[in-house]
Amino acid sequence: MKIAPLAVTALAAASLALAAPAPVTKAVAVLNPLGSSGVSGTVTFTKAEGGVRVQAQIKGLKPGDHGFHVHEFGDCSAPDGASAGGHFNPAGTPHAGPHDAQRHAGDMGNVAAGADGSATVDYVDKQASFEGPNSVLGRGVIVHDKADDLKTQPTGNAGGRVACGVVGVVKAQ
Ligand code: CU
Ligand code: ZN
Repeated sequence: MKIAPLAVTALAAASLALAAPAPVTKAVAVLNPLGSSGVSGTVTFTKAEGGVRVQAQIKGLKPGDHGFHVHEFGDCSAPDGASAGGHFNPAGTPHAGPHDAQRHAGDMGNVAAGADGSATVDYVDKQASFEGPNSVLGRGVIVHDKADDLKTQPTGNAGGRVACGVVGVVKAQ
Protein backbone atom coordinates (compact mmCIF):
# COMPACT_ATOMS: atom_id res chain seq x y z
CA MET A 1 0.00 0.00 0.00
CA LYS A 2 1.21 3.46 -0.88
CA ILE A 3 0.60 6.40 1.44
CA ALA A 4 0.21 9.82 -0.14
CA PRO A 5 3.00 12.24 0.93
CA LEU A 6 0.40 14.69 2.25
CA ALA A 7 -1.02 12.03 4.58
CA VAL A 8 2.47 11.23 5.85
CA THR A 9 3.05 14.92 6.59
CA ALA A 10 -0.28 15.15 8.42
CA LEU A 11 0.54 12.03 10.47
CA ALA A 12 3.97 13.40 11.36
CA ALA A 13 2.44 16.71 12.44
CA ALA A 14 -0.16 14.91 14.56
CA SER A 15 2.43 12.77 16.35
CA LEU A 16 4.60 15.82 16.91
CA ALA A 17 1.65 17.57 18.55
CA LEU A 18 1.20 14.56 20.84
CA ALA A 19 4.90 14.50 21.73
CA ALA A 20 5.02 18.18 22.67
CA PRO A 21 2.27 19.10 25.15
CA ALA A 22 1.13 22.72 25.29
CA PRO A 23 3.27 24.88 27.57
CA VAL A 24 1.97 25.28 31.11
CA THR A 25 0.23 28.61 31.65
CA LYS A 26 -1.51 28.00 34.97
CA ALA A 27 -0.91 26.04 38.16
CA VAL A 28 -2.59 25.64 41.53
CA ALA A 29 -1.63 24.72 45.07
CA VAL A 30 -4.42 23.66 47.44
CA LEU A 31 -3.30 24.54 50.96
CA ASN A 32 -4.23 22.08 53.67
CA PRO A 33 -3.86 22.61 57.43
CA LEU A 34 -0.75 21.31 59.19
CA GLY A 35 -1.52 19.84 62.59
CA SER A 36 -4.53 21.53 64.16
CA SER A 37 -3.92 24.96 62.58
CA GLY A 38 -7.23 25.04 60.72
CA VAL A 39 -5.54 27.14 57.99
CA SER A 40 -6.54 26.31 54.42
CA GLY A 41 -6.71 27.99 51.04
CA THR A 42 -5.92 28.06 47.36
CA VAL A 43 -3.00 29.64 45.50
CA THR A 44 -3.07 30.03 41.72
CA PHE A 45 -0.10 30.82 39.52
CA THR A 46 -0.91 32.25 36.07
CA LYS A 47 1.53 33.18 33.32
CA ALA A 48 1.48 36.97 33.01
CA GLU A 49 3.33 39.87 31.40
CA GLY A 50 6.72 40.01 33.13
CA GLY A 51 6.33 36.92 35.26
CA VAL A 52 3.70 34.83 36.99
CA ARG A 53 0.61 36.28 38.67
CA VAL A 54 0.16 34.87 42.17
CA GLN A 55 -3.36 34.94 43.60
CA ALA A 56 -4.29 33.39 46.92
CA GLN A 57 -7.28 33.05 49.19
CA ILE A 58 -6.44 31.77 52.64
CA LYS A 59 -8.64 31.36 55.72
CA GLY A 60 -8.38 30.23 59.31
CA LEU A 61 -5.40 32.47 60.09
CA LYS A 62 -4.67 34.45 63.22
CA PRO A 63 -5.07 38.16 62.37
CA GLY A 64 -1.82 39.76 61.18
CA ASP A 65 1.01 38.92 58.78
CA HIS A 66 2.13 35.39 57.95
CA GLY A 67 5.17 34.32 55.96
CA PHE A 68 4.28 32.89 52.55
CA HIS A 69 6.82 31.04 50.42
CA VAL A 70 7.43 28.48 47.74
CA HIS A 71 9.54 25.79 49.40
CA GLU A 72 11.94 23.42 47.68
CA PHE A 73 9.91 20.22 47.91
CA GLY A 74 6.30 19.48 47.06
CA ASP A 75 6.08 17.14 50.02
CA CYS A 76 3.50 18.01 52.67
CA SER A 77 3.61 14.59 54.32
CA ALA A 78 5.29 15.59 57.60
CA PRO A 79 2.78 16.74 60.25
CA ASP A 80 4.82 19.94 60.80
CA GLY A 81 5.47 20.52 57.06
CA ALA A 82 9.24 20.10 57.48
CA SER A 83 9.22 17.67 54.52
CA ALA A 84 8.75 20.67 52.20
CA GLY A 85 12.36 21.67 52.95
CA GLY A 86 13.64 25.24 53.00
CA HIS A 87 12.70 28.17 50.82
CA PHE A 88 12.99 27.41 47.09
CA ASN A 89 16.37 28.96 46.29
CA PRO A 90 17.78 27.72 42.95
CA ALA A 91 20.15 30.72 42.62
CA GLY A 92 21.71 30.39 46.10
CA THR A 93 20.81 33.99 46.97
CA PRO A 94 19.88 35.48 50.39
CA HIS A 95 16.38 35.55 51.85
CA ALA A 96 14.43 38.77 51.19
CA GLY A 97 11.05 40.01 50.01
CA PRO A 98 9.23 39.35 46.73
CA HIS A 99 10.13 42.75 45.25
CA ASP A 100 13.85 42.65 46.11
CA ALA A 101 16.32 41.95 43.29
CA GLN A 102 18.33 39.55 45.48
CA ARG A 103 15.97 37.02 47.03
CA HIS A 104 15.04 33.38 47.12
CA ALA A 105 12.91 32.57 44.07
CA GLY A 106 10.36 31.26 46.58
CA ASP A 107 10.13 34.45 48.63
CA MET A 108 6.52 35.64 48.30
CA GLY A 109 6.59 37.82 51.42
CA ASN A 110 3.58 37.82 53.71
CA VAL A 111 -0.14 37.30 53.60
CA ALA A 112 -2.08 39.77 55.77
CA ALA A 113 -5.06 38.29 57.61
CA GLY A 114 -7.86 40.52 58.79
CA ALA A 115 -9.92 40.14 61.97
CA ASP A 116 -11.92 37.35 60.27
CA GLY A 117 -8.72 35.34 59.69
CA SER A 118 -8.88 35.52 55.91
CA ALA A 119 -6.21 36.86 53.58
CA THR A 120 -5.90 37.47 49.87
CA VAL A 121 -2.82 37.89 47.68
CA ASP A 122 -2.58 39.26 44.14
CA TYR A 123 0.72 40.32 42.60
CA VAL A 124 2.97 39.48 39.65
CA ASP A 125 6.11 37.64 40.72
CA LYS A 126 9.06 38.44 38.44
CA GLN A 127 11.08 35.34 39.38
CA ALA A 128 8.47 32.60 39.41
CA SER A 129 8.25 30.52 36.25
CA PHE A 130 6.75 27.33 34.81
CA GLU A 131 10.01 26.29 33.14
CA GLY A 132 13.74 26.34 33.73
CA PRO A 133 15.50 26.45 37.11
CA ASN A 134 12.86 28.71 38.69
CA SER A 135 9.93 26.46 37.82
CA VAL A 136 7.49 26.31 40.72
CA LEU A 137 5.80 23.16 39.36
CA GLY A 138 5.93 20.33 41.87
CA ARG A 139 7.27 22.59 44.63
CA GLY A 140 5.59 23.26 47.98
CA VAL A 141 3.74 26.36 49.17
CA ILE A 142 3.93 27.05 52.90
CA VAL A 143 2.05 29.53 55.09
CA HIS A 144 3.73 30.31 58.42
CA ASP A 145 2.52 31.02 61.93
CA LYS A 146 4.41 34.32 62.20
CA ALA A 147 5.33 37.26 59.99
CA ASP A 148 8.30 37.07 57.63
CA ASP A 149 10.61 39.99 58.54
CA LEU A 150 12.07 39.76 54.99
CA LYS A 151 15.64 39.91 56.33
CA THR A 152 16.49 37.19 58.88
CA GLN A 153 18.54 34.46 57.12
CA PRO A 154 17.49 32.09 55.75
CA THR A 155 13.89 31.90 56.97
CA GLY A 156 12.61 35.42 57.68
CA ASN A 157 12.00 34.19 61.24
CA ALA A 158 8.45 33.27 60.27
CA GLY A 159 8.07 30.51 62.84
CA GLY A 160 6.21 27.23 62.40
CA ARG A 161 4.31 26.05 59.35
CA VAL A 162 0.51 26.17 59.44
CA ALA A 163 -0.52 25.14 55.91
CA CYS A 164 1.06 23.29 52.99
CA GLY A 165 0.19 22.64 49.35
CA VAL A 166 1.85 21.27 46.23
CA VAL A 167 1.96 23.25 42.98
CA GLY A 168 0.27 21.26 40.22
CA VAL A 169 -0.46 21.94 36.55
CA VAL A 170 -3.94 23.28 35.72
CA LYS A 171 -5.73 22.27 32.50
CA ALA A 172 -5.40 24.99 29.86
CA GLN A 173 -8.58 27.01 29.32
CU1 CU B 1 8.16 29.31 54.25
ZN1 ZN C 1 13.40 32.97 51.62
